[in-house]
Amino acid sequence: MASDGPAQAAAAVSDPLQYDLTTVLSKSLDRHLVFPLLEFLSQKELYAAEDIEAAKLELIEKTNMVDYAVDIYQGLNHTEEVPEQFVTRRGEVVNRLRTLEAEVKPITDFLSNADSVKMLKQDKSQNQAFLQAEFGIRAEHIEALYHLAKWNFECGNYSAAAEYLHHYRNLGTNPERGVSALWGKLAADVLLQDFETGMEDLLKLKDLLDIDTFAPVARQLQSRSWLMHWSLFVFFNHENGLNALIDLFLQERYLTALQLLGQHLLRYLAVAVVVNKRRRSALKDLVRVIQQESYEYADPITGGAHAWLARCGEVLDNDFFLAAAREAFLDAARTMLFETFCRVHQEIDMAGLSQQLGLDTEATEKWIVNLIRGARLNAKIDAKAGTVIMQAQGPGGDDVLLEKARSLSMRTFALSNTLVGILKA
Ligand SMILES: *[C@@H]1O[C@H](CO)[C@@H](O)[C@H](O)[C@H]1NC(C)=O
Repeated sequence: MASDGPAQAAAAVSDPLQYDLTTVLSKSLDRHLVFPLLEFLSQKELYAAEDIEAAKLELIEKTNMVDYAVDIYQGLNHTEEVPEQFVTRRGEVVNRLRTLEAEVKPITDFLSNADSVKMLKQDKSQNQAFLQAEFGIRAEHIEALYHLAKWNFECGNYSAAAEYLHHYRNLGTNPERGVSALWGKLAADVLLQDFETGMEDLLKLKDLLDIDTFAPVARQLQSRSWLMHWSLFVFFNHENGLNALIDLFLQERYLTALQLLGQHLLRYLAVAVVVNKRRRSALKDLVRVIQQESYEYADPITGGAHAWLARCGEVLDNDFFLAAAREAFLDAARTMLFETFCRVHQEIDMAGLSQQLGLDTEATEKWIVNLIRGARLNAKIDAKAGTVIMQAQGPGGDDVLLEKARSLSMRTFALSNTLVGILKA
């Protein structure tokens, strides 16, 4: 190992790879969900292109996407040749698909007739009897529908998978497989970028997991951790996603799963809370969680808020889920730091503060004016001296103000600690 030279110290600050969560997130995702992450990484050019292509090939070889695997193989090896194993595999995949399609034919025939479908009732066992009596559709046909859906999913035909899983969920009576089908449906929704349906399926899945209190505790924790990981795709793409993320992650049982199995998820919770101005109250909960974790202390003010914000910006920019939230996050984080800064100082030099926050003096002044107008800051601007002077409160007011300032700066420190901490983790 080399010594800790200045070059290394500099690399530690700006090496975006140390913040990359792709590997750790992938462990709790279906392998098909990892492809968009790898695609994103290759656009970011954080890793050597061959390394990413090799990772893709390794993933894809475990699926049925043989043609895609051949493309990657040929690109990596600079060849037009198609190795024998791919040809064989392709034959197997197609054969199995045809076999399964033949097995579910009575169902697909039935489903293609809208009038017949209308005769289905709510009650699944009633339907099963009806389907058997009228159409000769038995339980094994219905189970084959599940296998056909899964096979299509592995082939990368997510729309066929989603459709078959939808029907399986309506017809199948095996509860455990019903849950598996819903996981598959959620993954298919995400891969089809249908986040509206994704949100519905996610909430249904959560309900199913929540009532499954007889499952071994370790499995319950695991399922919740998986759900939180999968939910990121939906939450960061749905218009009400950030609220829903905060609601889910801060629920006691999900929070426990997060703390035990997925501390890296705090990054997403923290960003959702900071960006979502309507949920300021969640900040307190977030800080409570953070304080239970032992993140390294880092003072954003003395450490230079500007550098800290820049680092956060870089981390968000290189995160598949958060890249789009970068500006909103920086804006909100800057405001929070700024408010804290104003509250813990008697007199602030605006030029210095602007520099700290990476803003021009005009923007800084505008902010202060807004704070004063909103009665969130009792201060006066001395335009000539370029300073802001905090005003004393009435009798006893100082204590209140100081108390407020203390708790607020504690919160902000804790928050920035977490962010720096989680980003480093
Ligand atoms: C997906 O599956 C459906 C139903 O089997 C089929 O009609 C469609 O052609 C498939 N799509 C692709 C891209 O293979």
